Amino acid sequence: MAGIKDSSRGGFSNKIGFVLAAAGSAVGLGNIWKFPFEVSDGGGGAFVVMYLAFCFMLCFPVMMAEVAIGRKTNKNAVGAFTENGHKAWSALGKLGVLTGILILSFYNVVAGWALGFAIEMFAGNFELGQNFGAFIGNWQLNLVFSSIFMVVTIYIVAKGVSGGIEKASKILMPSLLILILSLMAYSLTQEGAIDGVIYYLVPDFNAITFETAYGAMGQAFFSLSLGMGALITYGSYVGKKDNIVTSTTMILLTDVGIAFIAGLMMFAFVFSQGLQGQGGGAGLIFTVLPGAFESIGPVLGRVIGGFFFVLLSFAALTSTVSLLEVPVAYVVDEYEVRRERTVWIVGLGIFLLGIPSMLGNGTVPFFTEFVQYSSSENPVSFMDFIEDMASDTFLPLGGFLISVYTAWVWRGDNFKKEVEIGNPGFGDSLIGKYTIFALKYLAPFILGSITVITILSKFFGIHILGA
Ligand code: PHE
Repeated sequence: MAGIKDSSRGGFSNKIGFVLAAAGSAVGLGNIWKFPFEVSDGGGGAFVVMYLAFCFMLCFPVMMAEVAIGRKTNKNAVGAFTENGHKAWSALGKLGVLTGILILSFYNVVAGWALGFAIEMFAGNFELGQNFGAFIGNWQLNLVFSSIFMVVTIYIVAKGVSGGIEKASKILMPSLLILILSLMAYSLTQEGAIDGVIYYLVPDFNAITFETAYGAMGQAFFSLSLGMGALITYGSYVGKKDNIVTSTTMILLTDVGIAFIAGLMMFAFVFSQGLQGQGGGAGLIFTVLPGAFESIGPVLGRVIGGFFFVLLSFAALTSTVSLLEVPVAYVVDEYEVRRERTVWIVGLGIFLLGIPSMLGNGTVPFFTEFVQYSSSENPVSFMDFIEDMASDTFLPLGGFLISVYTAWVWRGDNFKKEVEIGNPGFGDSLIGKYTIFALKYLAPFILGSITVITILSKFFGIHILGA
């Protein structure tokens, strides 16, 4: 049982509770909203291949490291390092908490769009796709949807680990699976769907450039909720007897599986409705899909469209819950304050921080054209700036530091010992040896280079690789 060491912190009731909650954190807008458009921008199947390689070869070891650090110390993302005897490294935990706060601030706004779209689809407002710009520019409406979303998130987190997070995941994750499988089955049976599947699955290896690899890497990290201590935090609620290797494998397979299915569904839909090439980009599901639902028919279109965005909202909810849990666990552990009150204060604070992101979609020029990078022609919005900083820069940086910490500071042997508690023989197994090797050399090298390249090219306009 988790939580035996410190029962006041709570814990997951069993392994499946943890796996569902962590898979819930991983499966989110990243899988259903971001993955398909990253694939279409990144050259179809070639991107998919790169993405899978990064997930299994690089993210898997980092994920195991995060969970092991959390379980070993029974502490939040900041306190874990201090508990392990490396107080200076708690700065890494603080970077994680900050990253979580920043991501949640804009993620909640996009989750609000999903909720709004669900309601509008059920109401049959299929023109919404063409009016996407006006929709996200309508701040009053967005304020309503995103505050509903944040309040539900707060409500779940306030109920605690097993009574809130685990319970919600046990309801939401199976519902999500049923919804996505039915939508996939429907889309695949439409005429012309096969062209979408071909575009999606047949890799054009000429399309693999450094940009593709880089995008695939970032996507893998974001999608698996890595690099910011979400899994250190969830890991701290895991029971000692649980097997970290099989748990992380299940989380990884669920995340990759759902992203894969989401892509299949999306491209089958888009191609069967003849909507390919209608501008991919961040708007893909919001601009293109309502039209696809409309062509299904007035009644069935509403039902399928409505359920699609319900699915998206469910996926987002288990992720916002995990994003909020990171700063909350930190404050509750370190300052010994009451969980419930803390959740409300932290959650509302993050909500306020998200308001500039909401206003930066055409409402307020200052936030809409927030910064001008030397590397790009047009200024980017507040939301994009926060996203570039938190998801594209801090996550790989966090992943780099977590690998270095685990392999060189905490040391591979201690990491191995922690994993072996629920998985004897891990150290001598091939997976065990590979994991240690990856944490020691591969991950620091790749993640370190990516971080440096991103910072130089994005924020300073210095392109080492000519990309
Ligand atoms: N993995 C989530 C998604 O794919 C996003 C997320 C990132 C959640 C980091 C928690 C931490 O939508």
